[in-house]
Amino acid sequence: MKIAVVGATGLVGTVMLKVLEERNFPLTELIPVASEKSVGKEITFKGKQFKVVNMETAIAMKPDIALFSAGGGTSLKYAPLFAEAGTTVIDNSSAWRMDPSKKLIVPEVNAYELSIDDKIIANPNCSTIQMVVALKPLHDKYRIKRVVVSTYQSVTGTGVKAVEQMMNERKGILDGPMAYPYQIDLNVIPQIDVFEANGYTKEEMKMIKETRKIMGDESIRVTATTVRIPVMGGHSESVNIEFENDFDVADVKSLMEKTQGIILVDDIDNLKYPMPKDAHEKDEVFVGRIRRDESMPNTLNMWIVADNLRKGAATNAVQIAEFLLQKELI
Ligand code: A2P
Repeated sequence: MKIAVVGATGLVGTVMLKVLEERNFPLTELIPVASEKSVGKEITFKGKQFKVVNMETAIAMKPDIALFSAGGGTSLKYAPLFAEAGTTVIDNSSAWRMDPSKKLIVPEVNAYELSIDDKIIANPNCSTIQMVVALKPLHDKYRIKRVVVSTYQSVTGTGVKAVEQMMNERKGILDGPMAYPYQIDLNVIPQIDVFEANGYTKEEMKMIKETRKIMGDESIRVTATTVRIPVMGGHSESVNIEFENDFDVADVKSLMEKTQGIILVDDIDNLKYPMPKDAHEKDEVFVGRIRRDESMPNTLNMWIVADNLRKGAATNAVQIAEFLLQKELI
């Protein structure tokens, strides 16, 4: 099993390598890929050194799977070239997510859709992934009518430059390189990605469209407000869900507890609820603060937290690769 990690020197690529190593992914050859400026750099994986190569070299090496996290433009250009060479691409960018001919996969929710013919598979947006893991079992049992979500997103989702901006500001350096239009430390920015014509941001529209595609149900109504906060470790979400059918809060908690990939942290008597600090470097989605919305019938409030670089990106991609392998789809 030859695995290429495209964007191996980036924030998500680095976590992909860590996750492949931790989960003991059965690879026989690792091909780290980055831009020309990084070619020849050494990457350590399982105690061995691997040299970074460029795209052309990687394609010629015909990897079985390429995990891509090198930006949308790079994916649009190179994913088809890998696919033509017989490689199955799992792409973390937004390039292919809403393409009707490409599958958008969260293994706990819709891995069953995958077939041997899927040569470019899309990994969803980080905020969407953690939400749908919790929504799916609830939709199956109570039928979701509408979701209202507000996010509290980590700066790591923007990349290295954003982490540097926040850390600089924390040290009082206010004239360093800026990843955001405003100071992020000691602040909250109600804008993630660019604004669209309808007044929503691209990130908000991704949550709306991707949720329906992954859940395979265009009737689910979703509205979102996505917000950047000065936090590392993970994204948090306040989620309000209206169902067609009534539910029992204890049943919802038990359903969350039984769902693969979810850890229920919901013990208010002992002040236990999910927080990004605790989700950091974990592969699971953490759910808590489950309670009835007393202002609306059949409606629930919950709080969902996950490490956006792990389940929101790298872990989800590696889990897709594991599924392909297990089902002999490559
Ligand atoms: P490099 O480090 O050589 O620039 P991040 O999102 O954290 O900035 O990381 C982006 C990743 O994508 C990096 O590993 C970067 O490599 C890689 N990358 C960017 N453009 C290309 C390209 N045209 N070909 C290959 N890798 C690229």
